[in-house]
Amino acid sequence: MPGRFVGGGADEAERAAEAALRPKRLEDFTGQEVVRGQLSVVLRAALARGAVPDHVLLSGPPGLGKTTLAMIIAAEVGGALRLTSGPAIQHAGDLAAILSSLEEGDVLFIDEIHRLARTAEEMLYLAMEDYRVDVVVGKGPGATSIPLALPPFTVVGATTRAGLLPAPLRDRFGFTGHLDYYAPGELARILNRSAGLLGVGLEPEAASELASRSRGTPRIANRLLRRVQDWAQVHGTPGILDLQAARAALAVFEVDALGLDRLDRQVLEALCSRFGGGPVGLATLAVSVGEEPETVETVAEPYLVREGLVVRTPRGRAATPAAYAHLGLEPPAEGALLV
Ligand SMILES: Nc1ncnc2c1ncn2[C@@H]1O[C@H](COP(=O)(O)OP(=O)(O)OP(=O)(O)O)[C@@H](O)[C@H]1O
Ligand SMILES: [Mg+2]
Repeated sequence: MPGRFVGGGADEAERAAEAALRPKRLEDFTGQEVVRGQLSVVLRAALARGAVPDHVLLSGPPGLGKTTLAMIIAAEVGGALRLTSGPAIQHAGDLAAILSSLEEGDVLFIDEIHRLARTAEEMLYLAMEDYRVDVVVGKGPGATSIPLALPPFTVVGATTRAGLLPAPLRDRFGFTGHLDYYAPGELARILNRSAGLLGVGLEPEAASELASRSRGTPRIANRLLRRVQDWAQVHGTPGILDLQAARAALAVFEVDALGLDRLDRQVLEALCSRFGGGPVGLATLAVSVGEEPETVETVAEPYLVREGLVVRTPRGRAATPAAYAHLGLEPPAEGALLV
C-alpha cells in the first residue's frame, strides 16, 4: 500500500521494528482483559494436566495482537512455534507436509485461516480432531492413502474475518478469542512500554495524544511512536518525545484528529462527495479508492463504523452526518441521507 504509514501493509524494516516491540509473555500483553484471562485459564489448565492446550482461534481487525498472542501461547506452554498461513497452503499436500513434521507440543499458527484451500481445510478437521492425517502416496488409480498418527499439538488460527470460517472448522476450536479495539489508556501503557524498549522518553501528554489517534490499534500506536521519534531526531530533540513533537509528527504523516489515515479519509471522501452519502456497494467503493474490497472491509471500515462515521446497510455503505462534519463538509439536506 504505497504512501500508507499506518494500517495494513508493512515493509521489512517495519516488520523488524514491530517484532522488537512484541510482548513475549502473557503478563506483558496489555489490555484485552477478557481474552487474556480466558487464555490464561486454558493454558494453565493444560500445563497442570500435562496435556497440550486445546486449539485456539483468534479473530479481530489487523494489528490488535493475534500473531503476538500465538507466539505467547507457544512461549507459555514451551512448545515450538510453526508458522504458516491460509494463502501459503495451496494444496492439501502442503498441509500434509507441515502436519507430518510436527512434534509433540508444537504450536501450529495458521494466519489468515479463512483463506485456506477447501481440500486443506478438510485435512485440518481430521488432524485437529483425531491427530491423524491421511497421506496420499502415488497418483491416479494406483494412489493409496496411508493414515499417519500425529503427536498431540495445538492449532492457533488467526482471522480478520471470523464470519468467513466454515462452521465445521470453527467448531473444532476449543477456545475462540475475539480481540477488540484498545482503549486509549491501554494504548498509552503500550506506548510507554515501547518507548522504554526504544530508549526514548515519552512525556505523558504525548503518550495520550498518540493513544487517542491510533485507531484503537497497538500496531498503529507503535508506528506513530517511531514516526515521532523520527521527527524528534530530525528536529534536534532526539530522545525526548513531547506533545509538540507528537502533534508535529502526526501533522507531517497526515494522521488527523480522530486518527484517520489517508485510506480512511479517502473512503469517507468518496462516500460523501462522489456517492452523495451512499449507500454504495463495497466493490464500487473499493475501486474508487484504488484498493481491494477486502482491504477496505477489514482495514478501514471496522474503525469507521465503530466511530459512527459509516454505517453498513443491506444496500451498501453509507455516510453519517458525523462523516460530513469530520470532513468539514456540508451534509445534504435533511432527510436526504439514509441515516
Ligand atoms: N496487547 C498488546 N500489548 C503490547 N503490544 C501489542 C499488543 N498487541 C499488539 N501489540 C503490538 O502490535 C503489533 C501488531 O500486533 P500483531 O502482529 O500481533 O497483530 P495481528 O492481530 O496479528 O495483525 P494482522 O491481522 O495484521 O496479522 C505487534 O508488533 C506488537 O508489538
Ligand atoms: Mg498477524
